[in-house]
Amino acid sequence: MTLSVVILAAGKGSRMFSEKPKVLHELSNQPLLQYVINAARNLKPVNINVVVGYKSKLVEQEFSKEDINWVVQKEQLGTGDAVKYTTPFIEGSQTLVLYGDVPLIDLNDLKKLIQVSENGLGILTFDKKNPKGYGRIKRTEVGVEGIIEEKDCSKTEKKITEINTGIMCIDTSKLNNWLSQIDDNNSQKEYYLTDIVALAKKDNTKIVTHEAKNESTVSGINSKAELIAMEKTMKQKKNEELIEQGVTIIDSSRTEIRGSLVCGADVEIDVGCIFEGDVKLGNNVKVGAYTHLKDSNILDNSNIKPYSHIDTSEVGMNNNIGPYARLRPGAKTNNNVNIGNFVEIKNSIVGAGSKINHLSYVGDSEVGKNVNIGAGCITCNYDGVNKHKTVIEDDVFIGSNSQLVAPLTISAGSTIGAGSTITKDTPANQLSLARSKQTTIPSWERPKKK
Ligand code: UD1
Ligand code: CA
Repeated sequence: MTLSVVILAAGKGSRMFSEKPKVLHELSNQPLLQYVINAARNLKPVNINVVVGYKSKLVEQEFSKEDINWVVQKEQLGTGDAVKYTTPFIEGSQTLVLYGDVPLIDLNDLKKLIQVSENGLGILTFDKKNPKGYGRIKRTEVGVEGIIEEKDCSKTEKKITEINTGIMCIDTSKLNNWLSQIDDNNSQKEYYLTDIVALAKKDNTKIVTHEAKNESTVSGINSKAELIAMEKTMKQKKNEELIEQGVTIIDSSRTEIRGSLVCGADVEIDVGCIFEGDVKLGNNVKVGAYTHLKDSNILDNSNIKPYSHIDTSEVGMNNNIGPYARLRPGAKTNNNVNIGNFVEIKNSIVGAGSKINHLSYVGDSEVGKNVNIGAGCITCNYDGVNKHKTVIEDDVFIGSNSQLVAPLTISAGSTIGAGSTITKDTPANQLSLARSKQTTIPSWERPKKK
């Protein structure tokens, strides 16, 4: 058995009230269609065919890196018409139909559906309390007889709660035969894919169903409200999974996990934190309130204090970062480092045991071990045109309010007197100063108010 996947994504999604095609709207930072493509890929099909229509070029562009056979449906004449467009490209012996706007589809359900529908027709169903709007699964004692769309349902049929999720897996040669037989003779004047079920019944083809158990896995997105609700559900789920694994999330309704967050043991996350992209927190890491972490790695026993921003950086073990610290892309601290309030670090390595506790800027620098950078120090890395590197070797002490004009090396063990503007390399183990001498003007008097 081989599999081809068809993803229906031609609709505009008019209830989104957006110029953007529905499947490009993002759920947790990813377009809806991406989720469906990822699920399809996981099934290792021989090919993936995506039916596009509304602003098809835009959709194709967004996924230009994906190996996909794009099929343009000229007019949205119904799901049956959409699938028909793909028939010349289906190579697999089975065809799995997915919807581009059903993002959280469960892989196990799909695998099961594919398995049970071999040589026949399989429908992924769901038992929905309020089935309004959905196609109903019509059964007799001997099995499934057909799918009736809501608008074509009789009063009794409307009471059926077993619904068609829209996801089907069909024997390809049979599908092609049935597709050539369906018409638009119904209340919506559409070519219904669901009409193939009655045709299968007529042919005595095996019709099977597999019931999805979790509603969110078969829910389609039709409006912004549904998108926002799903986003919330997803975040809530991620929070719950982490709590389940032992992470202390003080208030999960106030924690935003927008990408992937992987945590070690005994991690604590206070309120208002945002995690974007791929974030890893080691054992015993504490993340203080209102901290923003993006694509970063925090190693064991480090404490990120409130209101810190860490982007594309790595924090070593046993660090104290913040409050109000900013680690910009390329910041890397080794073990036992302290980075205090209003300190900005960019594209720099900070060696083990070093302290940069107050109001400093360290950019394009290499800071050695056990360095102490006083309050208000600046590595002047930019001459207005080019960026230059500052090297601060081990055991250096930089007095407060000093400027280090790069390119520059502060040699091991040197001390820089407070308030210095250092423009030349300094010798090891000595005190260097660059400031005018303190003078006192004896006859000077403070002006008096007139
Ligand atoms: C469809 C099913 C219904 C099922 C429901 C589940 C049919 C006839 N009905 O109804 O039984 O309960 O889904 O949500 O299949 N699309 C195209 N081209 C078209 C029409 C639709 O690509 O010409 C795409 C849409 O973009 C969407 C999907 O197919 O992703 C489903 O279309 P939609 O109009 O939402 O189908 P429903 O009427 O809701
Ligand atoms: Ca729909």
